[in-house]
Amino acid sequence: MGADTTTTASNVLVLLGPPGAGKGTQARLLEEQLGLVQLSTGDLLRAAVRDGTAAGLAADKVMKAGDLVSDAIVMEILEERLEQSDVARGVILDGFPRTSAQAEALDALLARHGMSVGAAVALTVDDNAMVERVSGRATCAICGEGYHDQFKPPAKPDTCDVCDGGPLTRRADDNAQTVIARLQAYHAQTAPLIDHFENRGVLRRVDAMGPIPEIAGSLGNVVKALNS
Ligand code: AP5
Repeated sequence: MGADTTTTASNVLVLLGPPGAGKGTQARLLEEQLGLVQLSTGDLLRAAVRDGTAAGLAADKVMKAGDLVSDAIVMEILEERLEQSDVARGVILDGFPRTSAQAEALDALLARHGMSVGAAVALTVDDNAMVERVSGRATCAICGEGYHDQFKPPAKPDTCDVCDGGPLTRRADDNAQTVIARLQAYHAQTAPLIDHFENRGVLRRVDAMGPIPEIAGSLGNVVKALNS
């Protein structure tokens, strides 16, 4: 997965996994290592909600309930993001695709931007630990760095270490009840996509229950091996 954008290049990494698996945490670590840009449909939808766009207004209630936003809205915001020049070197898809319709649409969508999927990694976790992971999450409102009350606390309470002073925020859908609904949506609609990528010969699985830096090392090795 290099930075070649002159022809269709295998410069897209898909991260699959349930809420709390560490998709966002690992995508941020991999961005620099792989020279790719993290593209999270969850982040794009939350930005649309904050901006009060038509897509955001429609998505807000659905996200708070822990259900999946319609394919049409997700495809629209993703397409718009892929128009921007910074993603031309390749992307890490975090939280997309999530339904078989999204997986079907992915190839055509990427081809229009000179990209194709080089690797898909399923982060395997114990569902029982995910409620604790998600409930303890905090994110910097300025730079987006992720924290956890227990597993990755900031040096100063409620203050980002990276941009030195950014306030930490909590997501509206990070409560135990909604996490359970999100886990159910994942198993019903997204987990079957693991077979989709396996059938295409690009799937690898990474155990995502260890410490964050160890998982990052395993992921980096898996992606390098797939592309060598
Ligand atoms: P989205 O924002 O994608 O959320 P999610 O998939 O539920 O995933 P999370 O962001 O909760 O978890 P993560 O795997 O990124 O974990 P993280 O690294 O943050 O989607 C939200 C909603 O938007 C959906 O419910 C849906 O409504 C909608 N949506 C989004 N995309 C959509 C799509 N394509 N189609 C339809 N609807 C869509 O880690 C979690 C916490 O654990 C952090 O605090 C972190 O510090 C900590 N942590 C991470 N790794 C470890 C570790 N190894 N050990 C201990 N703690 C760890």
